[in-house]
Amino acid sequence: MNQTPRYTRTAVTLHWLIALLMIVNVVLGLAAESLPDSWVRTTIDTHKSIGITVLGLALLRLLWRFSHRPPALPAAYPSWERRLSGVVHVLLYVLIFALPLSGWMHDSAWEGAATHPMALFGIVPWPRIGWIQNVADPATKESLHTLFGHWHVWFGYALYAAFALHLLGALKHQFVDRHAELQRMGW
Ligand code: HEM
Repeated sequence: MNQTPRYTRTAVTLHWLIALLMIVNVVLGLAAESLPDSWVRTTIDTHKSIGITVLGLALLRLLWRFSHRPPALPAAYPSWERRLSGVVHVLLYVLIFALPLSGWMHDSAWEGAATHPMALFGIVPWPRIGWIQNVADPATKESLHTLFGHWHVWFGYALYAAFALHLLGALKHQFVDRHAELQRMGW
């Protein structure tokens, strides 16, 4: 009988769905600059739609996390690994909010926002953040656009670092320590 304690199906589904969408969005975000002009608009619009979807899923995930305890870690894990994995998990939670929010803020300060309304996957109208879009002075708005763009890029760098640690930790537990680590987050 398999005794591995697991996350709930809802937690597992949200984990892999958010992971997949974030990876796709990193690829789209990084690729946007080097694509031919005729592809850029669709790529960035898709990136925005996926990002807002991630924000909604992140909210569900956080609510689920607050109401459900994760399965206990194997007793054999040393305390430094427990602490480090806890820190990385908190950082990942922060980033699944910070990336879409900073992207949305960046986009809301875009001078083209008014003439290019957002619609999720071309279907569902989606607002810009009013207080940012309504900044009257063009110079102030442009500097906000740049600032929020920098935040978005830096949250991206933090994501690469946190993701690398997360992946290394999971692989170490699975293949070096030989615990059923991946099964905890499996269906
Ligand atoms: C899952 C959430 C998101 C992730 C992981 C993500 C990630 C990224 C990355 C890695 C880049 C490239 C940064 C670089 O050049 O180093 C980028 C660019 C960008 N993102 Fe996001 N993003 C997310 C959500 C959003 C949202 C919700 C919006 C807007 C509503 C947005 C708007 C943009 C824009 C406008 C760019 C610049 C694209 C360009 O002109 O090259 N992002 N994003």
